[in-house]
Amino acid sequence: MEKLVVTGPTPLKGEVVISGAKNAAVALLPATLLIDGVCTIENLPNISDIKISCEILEKLGAKITWNNKNSITIDTTNITTTTAPLDLTSKFRASYYIIGAMLGRKGEIEVGMPGGCKLGARPIDQHIKGFEMLGATVNLDRGTIYAKADKLKGAPVYMDIVSVGATINVMLSAVLAEGTTTIDNAAKEPHIVDVANFLNTMGADIRGAGTDVIKINGVKKLHGNATYSVVPDQIEAGTFMLAAVATRGDLTLKNCITKHLESITAKIVEVGGNVEDYGDSIRVWCDKRPSGANIKTLPYPGFPTDLQPQMGVVLSMANGTSRINESIWDSRFQYTQELNKMGAKITAEGKNAFFEGVEKLHGAPVYSSDLRAGAALVVAGTAAEGVTEIYNLEHIDRGYENIEEKFRKIGAKIERVTE
Ligand code: EPU
Repeated sequence: MEKLVVTGPTPLKGEVVISGAKNAAVALLPATLLIDGVCTIENLPNISDIKISCEILEKLGAKITWNNKNSITIDTTNITTTTAPLDLTSKFRASYYIIGAMLGRKGEIEVGMPGGCKLGARPIDQHIKGFEMLGATVNLDRGTIYAKADKLKGAPVYMDIVSVGATINVMLSAVLAEGTTTIDNAAKEPHIVDVANFLNTMGADIRGAGTDVIKINGVKKLHGNATYSVVPDQIEAGTFMLAAVATRGDLTLKNCITKHLESITAKIVEVGGNVEDYGDSIRVWCDKRPSGANIKTLPYPGFPTDLQPQMGVVLSMANGTSRINESIWDSRFQYTQELNKMGAKITAEGKNAFFEGVEKLHGAPVYSSDLRAGAALVVAGTAAEGVTEIYNLEHIDRGYENIEEKFRKIGAKIERVTE
């Protein structure tokens, strides 16, 4: 079993280069199934979710060449099966994008129910509703999804809730459909714009991504023959911004899009941190104890749920009381129990967590319950006094490239140890 051993406290100082966005990359890879040809994707984060995505694509017939650890060339000319490997698709959430892409490419797919972080109920009814509006039939039987369409036809799709996954999935299924699809009440996250930009680079006709109405005019074919670079990771950047505040450090993040970080910047300034915005890089520093604040997680451009646990670390050590209202997921406060083992005073009740700020956290053995909880514990361990041992690293490795190396470069005393 592996664990991260962090000895703190260390004010993190220096530069971090932000990787490509996990939640964009895990959609771009299935999107290549719509291309009858070859394309190159660069700035891919080197994380386990990407390795599994590549394995799934290879099992479907794609040929993948790794140009370096962050770039692949993928040939999707011959897709040889419409059955996705159930053991691999159940390992992560974004495997549901295989459905939209394969409905578009082959009109058929059999795939296991997606896995991923356990954050409470994670239904896919809005994805299914969208596919059905375009003419597909979708059946679920003992954990397997069977989707089929003789011919997909563009249609208006209204999303009952704002869903990142359903917006992207319906967009994927509509790219090669006959006629026009509109997605109303679409999600607006940066990764949605990135997937639309990627598909448009390959010949699709998608307009309005990044607003709440997306219009997709179906095209006959995507041509490939292009190179695309994945958008910088908003959540990785936000994690380091909050790490700078939690450790009272001074970090400059390179390769980020600061426009995507505005809600985080606003909260950092509110709690007493400092931010200098250079457009494609950002400096964050904090030289005093942050003050308490209230946060509500919301779809983009609101404060992201995927940074809620990292913000929780800052608030656990703030001067005063704070409240976080988690409006996206039912079960995203599991990390608070771990922070309490480190001396925090947090009470989680349903969708709210109440923080009574303590002056210091102390090291303890802690367990990451999901990806962002794991990242939050790394931040907490760096800020805390003494030794923190973090277990269940498989969650962290799904979404952060080389987390310990990046933290070590900015001064953290962190080692990966095999027990
Ligand atoms: N929802 C439904 N029905 C659906 C789809 C979603 O009720 O058909 C609900 C969900 O239960 C949730 C809300 O709608 O309450 C939003 O879910 P969404 O579909 O937006 O989430 P997702 O696509 O499954 C992605 C990210 C998550 C991130 C959320 C919200 C990927 C692979 N995952 O999930 O990322 O928390 O959007 O921004 O893109 C993470 O990276 O750690 C992570 C969990």
